[in-house]
Amino acid sequence: MPKSLISIHDFSKEEILHILEIAAEFEKNKSQNILAGKVIACIFFEPSTRTRLSFETASNRLGARVIGFSDTGNTSITKGESLKDTIKMVSNYVDLIVMRHPLEGASRYASEIASVPVVNAGDGANQHPSQTLLDLYSIKQTQGKLNDLKINMVGDLKYGRTVHSLLQAMSHFSPNFVFTSPDELMLPSEYKEWLDGKGIPYTETRQLSDHLNDSDIIYMTRVQQERFTDLMEYEKVKNFYRLEKSMLDNVKPNMKILHPLPRLNEISTDVDDTKYAYFYKQAENGMYVRMAIIAYLLGYK
Ligand code: CP
Repeated sequence: MPKSLISIHDFSKEEILHILEIAAEFEKNKSQNILAGKVIACIFFEPSTRTRLSFETASNRLGARVIGFSDTGNTSITKGESLKDTIKMVSNYVDLIVMRHPLEGASRYASEIASVPVVNAGDGANQHPSQTLLDLYSIKQTQGKLNDLKINMVGDLKYGRTVHSLLQAMSHFSPNFVFTSPDELMLPSEYKEWLDGKGIPYTETRQLSDHLNDSDIIYMTRVQQERFTDLMEYEKVKNFYRLEKSMLDNVKPNMKILHPLPRLNEISTDVDDTKYAYFYKQAENGMYVRMAIIAYLLGYK
């Protein structure tokens, strides 16, 4: 089976650091024709702006061509074709598959069927490992290091797959976590037990103000409406947090605000022009990191 990226656990600490180094090279030299003749499939069973477009741009910048779909309504899936048959067929056409799917475990299943590497571009509330690698890249770029940082994750810690992948990846780097969420969206116990097993310290709070001023990274997240079965529950928590410029007067000078995006109301637009806002650059970094992931999985870096 070719090497795939389904969970952040699929990459060792050394591989993670290697990806970050290659991404930095690609940031300096944004177009390299190393994948001429290769074809990448981007198949998205769920909506996306950044992940799909940055993977497609990354493929183009490396000289590969791209096929795929972003709307299953135009595919034979509407006729009842199975995921297994879809993946078997696409993997015979291309050299690498990037896939987003609403079902947890769908990408792992695809990687067991495909004859080419598969990159999980998000599977339900489970994992989003390419987002995690770009988050790590952004943390390293802004803090100059990955070790011994206080990372404050805010918002939907229950359904936010980027949170789940990031806390696992950061475990290599002696982090100190703050988990800021309403009671309804607390980090699931399986992740806390995992952190306990590794001896990684964390604090839980409902109050955004509690750890704004001693955090190195504030990792804001959107409440994931699409994962709620009861929309009344969503309405109760959707506007629980709103980070505003006036709240940033006493934060650490090195503090940066990250957000995987899309943003709804959780960050006021008056934050955008402060020196603390990094989320647009973070999204740009995704392109370099995804160039690195593709090049690495295809054996070119
Ligand atoms: N961060 C992220 O996954 O964004 P998209 O849903 O737009 O791809």
